[in-house]
Amino acid sequence: MAILVTGGAGFIGSHTCVELQQAGYDVVVYDNLCNSSEKSLKRVEAITGKSVKFYKGDILDADRLNEVFEKESIDSCIHFAGLKAVGESVQKPWEYYENNIAGTLTLVDVMRKHNCKNIIFSSSATVYGDPAEIPITENCPKGQCTNPYGWTKSMLEQILSDIQKADNEWNVVLLRYFNPIGAHPSGTMGENPNGIPNNLMPYITQVAVGKLPELGIFGDDYDTPDGTGVRDYIHVVDLAKGHVLALKKIEEKAGLKIYNLGTGVGYSVLDIVKNFESANDIKIPYSIKPRRAGDIATCYSDATKAKEELGWTAQYGIKEMCADSWRWQKNNPNGYDD
Ligand code: NAD
Ligand code: UFG
Repeated sequence: MAILVTGGAGFIGSHTCVELQQAGYDVVVYDNLCNSSEKSLKRVEAITGKSVKFYKGDILDADRLNEVFEKESIDSCIHFAGLKAVGESVQKPWEYYENNIAGTLTLVDVMRKHNCKNIIFSSSATVYGDPAEIPITENCPKGQCTNPYGWTKSMLEQILSDIQKADNEWNVVLLRYFNPIGAHPSGTMGENPNGIPNNLMPYITQVAVGKLPELGIFGDDYDTPDGTGVRDYIHVVDLAKGHVLALKKIEEKAGLKIYNLGTGVGYSVLDIVKNFESANDIKIPYSIKPRRAGDIATCYSDATKAKEELGWTAQYGIKEMCADSWRWQKNNPNGYDD
């Protein structure tokens, strides 16, 4: 039996393939490569010494998905495939709803036709909106998202929950990621954003490698200890391991489960800059810019539920996150592009 990993060539998907293979699972990756490179899968193979079966295809393409389910014996799906750029989603809402929502509906329909009713879905802390409580537990009510990307996550959580409620043969695990950063400690795999990065850590590493002149810090007048935004950064390898444990939950016929995957610790933008500088002995020039539209002051998790029910806790701290992000960027200044 194999695990279908949609979006498996991407940042979180590729790191999850490593952990799945190392835990003894067979992996089948399905990805249209719209935001990734097949080379990431070669790096997975180099780390694990096992081959990754890859199908290039779109989650909107039911025929291609059917072909995969006919050829492979798929037991469960870890569904990473989706568009994720917050700003772009504001400009192109139709494309985001089509890709993420219609794509997931197509995938789920093909899955049920092949009697595969186990899915782990990549959700996000963004579904909490401006959170009603800090630290955020899974019982915190979902909030108003500030962009179409966030709404796709919130709506897909509802859709998958309703599907599970209507047919209890389904096992659905919704994983709400906080802020994934870091890279594989080997330095051979990491985040590979197109163009100028939107997210903090890839922006910092591109400043460090000399591709960008300085970091702009979006606001220093938030109600936080130093005025800059506070987030729950989590090492991508820890996040990947969380999926392997979620799969064990699926194997126990869990029904519907929702877990935060975060460390439970909040760091400000300035904390991240300082930690990056000291972990890597590099200066990061920065200047304070206006607040970014849609940003909130503080977002960090209460990660107790994942610990109690999955036996999962983050192993890596901020030093490793900063050192591993930098090792990847330094060794691969152009990501997977030669
Ligand atoms: P990523 O862009 O690196 O990976 C997503 C992958 O999905 C890419 O390889 C892309 O080519 C593929 N894809 C997109 N649309 C597709 C389609 N229609 N058909 C087939 N493949 C398609 O992003 P990531 O950071 O690895 O994120 C993985 C998942 O986790 C996404 O669903 C994302 O929304 C979610 N997530 C990410 C973060 C984050 O900060 N990185 C936070 C919360 C949730
Ligand atoms: N920031 C800067 N300068 C930058 C980039 C970011 O100061 O150039 C700040 C932001 O204002 C924020 C913090 O760094 O305070 C983190 O910003 P990111 O863009 O890295 O991450 P976000 O918390 O805004 O959002 C990310 C993903 C979302 C996901 C969310 C989950 O982009 O998709 O984490 O918590 F939903």
